Amino acid sequence: MRHLSLAMLDKLRMPLGARCLDLTCGTGFVTGELARRGGSPAIGVDASAGMLEQARSQHPNCQFIQSEALEYLRRQPKCGFDLVTCAWGLGYTRPLALLRGIARVLRPGGQLGIIDNSLFSVAEVLWSSPPGHGRHRGRADRKIQSPPSDNPARLRPGRPLWQRPGHSR
Ligand SMILES: C[S@@+](CC[C@H](N)C(=O)[O-])C[C@H]1O[C@@H](n2cnc3c(N)ncnc32)[C@H](O)[C@@H]1O
Repeated sequence: MRHLSLAMLDKLRMPLGARCLDLTCGTGFVTGELARRGGSPAIGVDASAGMLEQARSQHPNCQFIQSEALEYLRRQPKCGFDLVTCAWGLGYTRPLALLRGIARVLRPGGQLGIIDNSLFSVAEVLWSSPPGHGRHRGRADRKIQSPPSDNPARLRPGRPLWQRPGHSR
């Protein structure tokens, strides 16, 4: 899976000194890579003390904070980060709420990198308007369907799993 995380990071522009946040960081593989690429300490956040213990020993140049991801975002000021990542963790959270929280802490023009392998964990995100864009429907009347033919095993990083009806790219 690490090669896929690296492929995600390769798609991001990483200005030197960028203020980076890695949510659901686990043992800190992506956090460490953010610090290496950005040339400045990155912050990793995870709910698990055990994961963070390993992260701290493997990446002493980063800062690791034990917190539920949404709770952490709520405590942060607006626009404080240049770049936020969430690798293989979105599906463990409340995805839309997490995205709204991330949008609040990212500076204008900031970047977000997400990689996830669970089609159903990201369904509510993929079928929803981005926060602040257009009408945002409530959960009850949002159409959540599985794509008829996509096989998650064949999906490639960086490609949309499927597209919201009415959007063409
Ligand atoms: C599959 S691991 C991914 C770890 C890491 N991002 C990586 O790429 O190796 C998922 C991580 O999400 C963390 N996690 C799950 N739910 C969380 C939540 N609500 N807030 C913060 N961390 C959470 C778990 O403790 C676990 O370390």
